[in-house]
Amino acid sequence: MASTLTTWTCKTSVNENIHHARKMGKTANAHDFHDTHDTCDTCGTKRTTTITILGISRKVPCVCRCQAEAQALRKRDEQRREIIRRIEKLKKYSLMDARFRNSTLAAWNDDVGCPKLKKTILRYVEAWPEMKTCNIGLMLLGNPGVGKSFAAFAVANELISRHREVVIAVSAMGLLARIRETFNRQDREAEIDIIRTLENASLLVLDDLGSEQKTDWATAMLYQIIDNRYRSGKPLLITTNLSLQQLQQKLTGYDQVVRTYDRLMEMCQPITVKGPSQRAAVARSKRDQLIQLITSET
Ligand SMILES: Nc1ncnc2c1ncn2[C@@H]1O[C@H](COP(=O)(O)OP(=O)(O)OP(=O)(O)O)[C@@H](O)[C@H]1O
Ligand SMILES: [Mg+2]
Ligand SMILES: [Zn+2]
Repeated sequence: MASTLTTWTCKTSVNENIHHARKMGKTANAHDFHDTHDTCDTCGTKRTTTITILGISRKVPCVCRCQAEAQALRKRDEQRREIIRRIEKLKKYSLMDARFRNSTLAAWNDDVGCPKLKKTILRYVEAWPEMKTCNIGLMLLGNPGVGKSFAAFAVANELISRHREVVIAVSAMGLLARIRETFNRQDREAEIDIIRTLENASLLVLDDLGSEQKTDWATAMLYQIIDNRYRSGKPLLITTNLSLQQLQQKLTGYDQVVRTYDRLMEMCQPITVKGPSQRAAVARSKRDQLIQLITSET
């Protein structure tokens, strides 16, 4: 019984191979597929080929069509995994504030976030290729707690996952502190390294610009960072609590030339985010969660 079944299976496979071979314009008969492994049982294409080296011909294995397809699939899979690894690494090392790693459009809470702002950033993300080409960035202005950072980090996360972009999202104050640290260590190489990394990013998010202490060093460093973006024609997204006038004052150095602010205004489209601070709402929801946890019976 078992042998009948085997013969039947074999015949089918031979018939399939003949059919496949005919479809591919070859003449074949059952004999061609017996007693030889030259042809693949599955796709019917060659698994060996003859090569001639120095006048000597020999049969060598080669990949049949289904093997080639499987290899291509594996390669594509590997490439995808590599992209995902790069994105994860980027998320980890992109100086991104851990709090905002989950600030995505998917996590956007409509009860908390401003709907107009959501629409704006959604459009920005969708139109990213044009935004990138034309070097159009955003400047989110507004009072504390209105959701500026959440929105800025949502853009950063979306560009990483949707457009596979290299994005650096960092608090302006934290970034300056890091550069200052290398400066104090007289580690010029590390300082250049940070600045170069910033230059390489397709989008740089400077969160809470203007919250840093105003010193000649900070003013000069911010000028360098912003001017680098300007020169390389790459977009910048900033958030700030300051008004435009306050920001101008903050970024202007001792010589009173408004060079940094002027560049910012050319690169970033100002958007004022209005509304109450969302921190109270977040605190309320956390308190409700805690109460539920404490009072629930397990
Ligand atoms: N769209 C949103 N969906 C869910 N949570 C949000 C949203 N917007 C803001 N939040 C939450 O509200 C709080 C305040 O938001 P966020 O920190 O973005 O405000 P901000 O405008 O940057 O404030 P600040 O000027 O003080 O930095 C945070 O806890 C944040 O996670
Ligand atoms: Mg903020
Ligand atoms: Zn095959």
